[in-house]
Amino acid sequence: MKKVLIVFGTRPEAIKMAPVVKELQRRSEQFEVIVCVTGQHREMLDQMLSVFDITPDYDLDIMQPGQDLYDVSARILLGMRDVLTKEKTDLVLVHGDTSTSTFAALAAFYQQIPVGHVEAGLRTGNIYSPWPEEMNRQLNGRLCTWHFAPTETARQNLLKEHVDDKHIVVTGNTVIDALHWVVASGKAVAPQFNRDEKRRMVLITGHRRENFGDGMKHICQSINALAEQFKDVDFVYPIHLNPNIRRPVQEIIDGSRSNVYLLEPLSYLEFVDMMQQCTLILTDSGGIQEEAPAFGKPVLVMRDTTERPEAIEAGTARLVGTDKETIINAVAELLTDAASYHAMAHAANPFGDGHAAERIAEFIAND
Ligand code: UD1
Ligand code: UDP
Repeated sequence: MKKVLIVFGTRPEAIKMAPVVKELQRRSEQFEVIVCVTGQHREMLDQMLSVFDITPDYDLDIMQPGQDLYDVSARILLGMRDVLTKEKTDLVLVHGDTSTSTFAALAAFYQQIPVGHVEAGLRTGNIYSPWPEEMNRQLNGRLCTWHFAPTETARQNLLKEHVDDKHIVVTGNTVIDALHWVVASGKAVAPQFNRDEKRRMVLITGHRRENFGDGMKHICQSINALAEQFKDVDFVYPIHLNPNIRRPVQEIIDGSRSNVYLLEPLSYLEFVDMMQQCTLILTDSGGIQEEAPAFGKPVLVMRDTTERPEAIEAGTARLVGTDKETIINAVAELLTDAASYHAMAHAANPFGDGHAAERIAEFIAND
């Protein structure tokens, strides 16, 4: 029986680790599972814990309003010391590229406990984009013993950094497991707001630190211009709780227009429904680049780089950065040019088949 500590703290980590928690718990003869949330996010994490019905054994509750990277990092490291000392697990699992993932991995390293990294090997090669996530991933590449790479490209990235091939497993991305679970359960549900579902809709999200300031200003101005130009299209924006995002969105985007909907963050069950309903997605999110192709929805990525080149190669995503004209032109093209739209609206998803968590569990059971 292996004792495994699973650590996560933000919305996307909760969504992507939920299938791993469930799969390890299902194999109760093989694993004792301890779940620790850092609470790096509070409301947005709790929303997801409730969707997936996960009750953490530990909650470090570290979120402070407007926290900076020092606050988050130090509080995770100290909080994890106590949990690791008490539980003495055989293995720790972390996910992706957040402060939670890297500082939980570092805390485990300080106690010489091996760490498995779920969603390993994503790289842009630019340590400032996305920031600080690219560095977090690279650090995890060194701190962790086991690397669960979602794609072959991610495996190749790790090999280039001299990670031992025997320590890498290509699993697919667990976000597809989560998506399949929601779709199969029939639990996806339309959020409660008054929109005519027959109208076309652009779904928008954004939160990247490197877009704070001018980037967000340009994004918001583009949305105003598009809402004015395309009165027959709805623009739906569930706003991330980070005040550096909420402030410009609420100040600049004209939410009084009848075709603009500024919403609170949606639960995963609602967001999946919105992805199914929408015409296209305008986002700087990482996870959404992986999910959207499952529904054949084009994604315009408001970033200069992506660590998910598979989506660009598959033709389901395009980088548009944060330049106002570029965003407006790219959205306008997809809304007016049927050939461009259909070229991007592929249903083939390069990120996984919905069985990633099983592969991770199988590997851990036998390592
Ligand atoms: C974090 C991650 C980022 C990930 C993103 C997913 C780091 C450095 N950043 O960015 O990699 O892509 O989450 O969304 O790990 N807030 C709330 N309630 C919540 C969540 C956030 O009020 O439920 C507000 C708080 O004021 C908090 C702020 O948002 O201080 C920023 O949260 P933080 O986790 O530091 O950064 P994110 O921008 O959310
Ligand atoms: N998401 C959600 N509700 C929302 C917006 C996003 O459930 O209102 C989901 C989305 O489907 C994806 C994840 O949250 O799985 C992405 O989170 P985020 O963009 O915050 O982080 P990133 O993926 O960029 O790290």
